[in-house]
Amino acid sequence: HEQVGAMRNIISHYFDGHDVNINSEIINNVKDADRLYIIGCGTSYNAGLVGRNYFEKWAGIPTEVHLASEFAYNVPLLSKKPMFIFLSQSGETADLRAVLTKLRSVNADYKFLVLTNVDASTLSRECDYTLLLHAGPEIAVASTKAYTAQITVMAVLAEVLRRTKGRPQTFDMSHELAVIASAIEGVLDEKSVVKELVDQNLLDTANAFYIGRHLDYYVAMEAALKLKEISYVQTESFAAGELKHGTIALIEEGTPVIALLSEPVVASHTRGNIEEVKARGAKTMVIAMEGSEREGDDIVLPKVQMELAPILSVVVTQLIAYYTSLGKGLDVDKPRNLAKSV
Ligand code: G6P
Repeated sequence: HEQVGAMRNIISHYFDGHDVNINSEIINNVKDADRLYIIGCGTSYNAGLVGRNYFEKWAGIPTEVHLASEFAYNVPLLSKKPMFIFLSQSGETADLRAVLTKLRSVNADYKFLVLTNVDASTLSRECDYTLLLHAGPEIAVASTKAYTAQITVMAVLAEVLRRTKGRPQTFDMSHELAVIASAIEGVLDEKSVVKELVDQNLLDTANAFYIGRHLDYYVAMEAALKLKEISYVQTESFAAGELKHGTIALIEEGTPVIALLSEPVVASHTRGNIEEVKARGAKTMVIAMEGSEREGDDIVLPKVQMELAPILSVVVTQLIAYYTSLGKGLDVDKPRNLAKSV
C-alpha cells in the first residue's frame, strides 16, 4: 500500500520540473562505461532484470545482471570500462560486500554505485556513489516497495543517461511514473478481486506456476518468489515459450497457472501457451493489460507505458502472495527461515 507514496516520493526527489536531480559525477561515470554490471540478491536481483532493459534500450549501454552470491566466485570476463550497479534494499547484504571486496582487489579504479533504501548503510559508505530509493523503511521480510522503487530509480537513471547521450525518447518519464502511481492506487482500491481469485484457486494447492514473456517473465520471477516465500506454495516462473521444452510435464489436473500479459506484441503467443496448459487440466488465471486483454480475463490493468508496466503488474502478484499467506493463516510479514536487514 505504500508503493503509491514511494513512487511519488521518488518523482519529487528526482525530478525538478523537467530536470533530473542526479549528481553529474554519477551520470558521467555510468555514461562513460562500456558495460554495466547490475548485481543483487533475491528481489533486488529480480528488479535488476527489469532495469537491464532500460539501460540497454533507453541509454544504449550493454548491461548484464548477476546474482551477488555467484558473482564473487564466478567473475565473468569483464569489459574494458565496466561500471558496477549494486541493488540492495538494506545496503547491508554480505554477498554484495563480498563482490565489492573481490572487484576492488581486481582493480582499485573500478567504480561502484549502489541503489539502496538506507542512507549511510554499509554499502552506501563503501561504494563510490549512492542513489537512494526513498521508499521508507521496509519492515516485512518479503520485499515489495523496495522492488518497485529500485525499478523506478533505474528508470530515472536510464532516462538521464538517455538525455545526456542525446538519444530519442517518445514519452515523458516523470508523467508516466505518476500515471503508474495512480494506477497502483486503482489496483489497491479493487484488491477484493484479487482476494476472490486467491480464495478460489490458491489456498489448497501445493504448487503453482507463473508464466510470461519478456518483461512479464521477469515479473513472473518476482511474483513466484513472493508467493513461495510467504505462502509456502512451491511456485515456479517460466518463460511461457519454454513450457513446451520440458516444464509442461509438470502440469496436472487443477495445477494453478497464472499468466501475465502486458505486451500486445507477445500476448498472442502467451495466449497459445495458456491454451496448451488448459488442455492439460491447468486452472488458469490471466492478468492482462488493456490492449492485450480478452473477455474472461481475471484482472485487466489500465494501459501504462509498456517498459514501466512491471511496476504496476507486480503489485497484483504481491496481493496474490499476501492473500494466499493470510488465507492460510500464516504470518505474512515474518515467513519462516528468512530474515532481513531494514
Ligand atoms: C534477503 C531478503 C530478501 C531480499 C534479499 C536481498 O534474503 O529476504 O527479501 O530481496 O535479502 O536484500 P537486499 O537488502 O540486499 O535488497
